[in-house]
Amino acid sequence: MATWWKEAVAYQIYPRSFKDSNGDGIGDLNGITEKLDYLKELGIDLIWICPMYKSPNDDNGYDISDYQQIMAEFGTMADFDRLLAEVHARGMRLIIDLVVNHTSDEHPWFLESSSSRDNPKRDWYTWRDGKNGAEPNNWEGIFKGSAWEFDPQTEQYYLHLFTRRQPDLNWENPQVRTAVYDMMHWWLAKGIDGFRIDAICHMKKEPTLADVPNPDKLRYVPSMKSHLNYDGLLEYVDDMSRNVFQHYDIVTVGEVNGLDSAHAEEWVGEHRNRLNMVFQFEHVRLWETEAGIRPSPAQLKKIFTAWQEALEGKGWNALYVENHDLTRITSRWGDTQHYWRESATCLATLYFLMQGTPFIYQGQEIGMTNTRFSGLADFDDVSAKNMWRDMTAQGKSEEEIIAFLTHTGRDNSRTPMQWDHSANAGFSEAKPWFQVNANHTIINVAAQRQDPDSVLNFYRALIALRKKERALIYGRYRLVLADHPQIYAYWREQDDAKFLVLCNLSSKSAQWPEGDLSLDGAKCVLGNAAQIDEPYRLHHWETRVYQF
Ligand code: GLC
Ligand code: CA
Repeated sequence: MATWWKEAVAYQIYPRSFKDSNGDGIGDLNGITEKLDYLKELGIDLIWICPMYKSPNDDNGYDISDYQQIMAEFGTMADFDRLLAEVHARGMRLIIDLVVNHTSDEHPWFLESSSSRDNPKRDWYTWRDGKNGAEPNNWEGIFKGSAWEFDPQTEQYYLHLFTRRQPDLNWENPQVRTAVYDMMHWWLAKGIDGFRIDAICHMKKEPTLADVPNPDKLRYVPSMKSHLNYDGLLEYVDDMSRNVFQHYDIVTVGEVNGLDSAHAEEWVGEHRNRLNMVFQFEHVRLWETEAGIRPSPAQLKKIFTAWQEALEGKGWNALYVENHDLTRITSRWGDTQHYWRESATCLATLYFLMQGTPFIYQGQEIGMTNTRFSGLADFDDVSAKNMWRDMTAQGKSEEEIIAFLTHTGRDNSRTPMQWDHSANAGFSEAKPWFQVNANHTIINVAAQRQDPDSVLNFYRALIALRKKERALIYGRYRLVLADHPQIYAYWREQDDAKFLVLCNLSSKSAQWPEGDLSLDGAKCVLGNAAQIDEPYRLHHWETRVYQF
């Protein structure tokens, strides 16, 4: 069924690093409002902003202490209301991050819950006695260390899958659900257009909270089996949908780690009325190969094609290659050393024209890259700091740790947005809260605006093309040249309209026999090379889109 959110192109904003409007070095809501014309000009229809709520910032806003207030550093509720009105005035929509697997330890709910064992909100979180003078079980948290923290006042432990300052809400408790739904209705009444739902895959826990098997005799054991997409989780989603989603014309995107394409329909099948889309992690897992090794086109084809086929006619994909938890795609999959522009634009085309709603993460549209870190002090991310502690305990050297975090760390995507070549990249008048990538003198919005061949202008053309051609939105995806080792190619077809997307995912030229795929009668409607010399040969990282 055709709907607005399937036709939309989405843009993710990490407010802290997008634009500082008042010269304190920290991005803010008014900074976003200032840049709405830029987003409109790019062709964006839907904006997702990462958490902007009141928070002590243990995990940069993913630890919320009041769901109905704005973080002071980001502005006021009036600023939010103005942002929302300005988004709508431009015909765009705005979704916010719903972080309800956990709250901050400073949230009043948790303050009450931890105040005594018989507080009425005690059961809003998961409290347990220790076992033999240690944690209630051996679960390791997602950000390393134990998933439990001892509270000396009430002499029990509470569960936290992320940092110790992010206690998990107990979703078994109906009062918790009602309180969260009330809060969601409150935001929806303001007119927001939906939610990106954080860590939704972890909301259900194995009910007995038993130890996980520990064959390697670890102190704390990776515990995903006990809380990632655990049986019964979808009942929570149904409940939220019945009580909230189904009463509005909104869009919902769940962050669902651990989901494979075979089970995708259970989450986003249209007749199920659960979520509209999920951010799945299968292709993202390919990031976790060794430094310098790119995922092979064969691996990419397998995963993307499985998702495209699994949801054809049944549900809808969220398409993305970057976000605030990942390294920059051009650094990871492309070739920033030799073919930065070519690989940035080729990777853009690759994911963008599949069936689904494409999301762009801030800075991706100008080909921002990973940054350089030289010591612990250069990292901001709490998960990086925890890993540093853990790896040090394992005897890893400082060099090894830096190499690992440079290659995988979330801080890579959190450096300030590069607006121009000035000292603070046009992000702020003051020293930014976090280091600016040194390459902002070359890679920045102002320079790319002028340059017809820039990554930015390529994204603009790509977006315009998708908007113009319904087959590129709704058409069926079909893989072609399936076994080609360098080229990723696919069809998008609807009725008589037919498009071919070609991407050479390598730093060498690539060709194919005309007999395998003929370009007869095709017109090239988008490409990243100056000219086409030989139709059946693609240059390094060349991409072309043909219309038949
Ligand atoms: C999600 C967010 C991530 C955050 C975590 C805990 O994975 O994307 O940034 O740290 O949830 O809220
Ligand atoms: Ca500011």
